[in-house]
Amino acid sequence: MVNTLTRKALAARQFAHAPFSKFLVGAAIESINGAVYTGCNIENASYGLTMCAERVAVFKALSEGIRQFRRIVIAADTETLTPPCGACRQILWEFCKDIEVVLVNPAGKSESMRLKDLLPRAFDASYL
Ligand code: THU
Repeated sequence: MVNTLTRKALAARQFAHAPFSKFLVGAAIESINGAVYTGCNIENASYGLTMCAERVAVFKALSEGIRQFRRIVIAADTETLTPPCGACRQILWEFCKDIEVVLVNPAGKSESMRLKDLLPRAFDASYL
């Protein structure tokens, strides 16, 4: 399934709207029943409104009632694989807890990790 997700994340990357950074990112998140939701980064002339690929993917899934996830693949064209930004880590923790995160590039390099290693000692609703 990681292969399918990788292919979909790389394909979604082509839809990125990134005229300002020219940095194209794609993501594909898999629910526990195997459904896949993709996302790409969508920038705005008012830079702060930019939305990352990962959040587009997870919000698409959430908006269709999906609440349990298995893994997310994140694709960018960098030799050193691109990890999710801090905001995306926090959002992923909120909705996906300790999900598997797979970083890939178009050259075929990939690395798998757990979200808790990217966001140790995460803040969440358990503290409220
Ligand atoms: N970006 C993502 O979509 N995901 C990441 O994990 C890192 C950054 C986007 C945001 C912006 O459009 C561009 O990459 C450069 O920061």
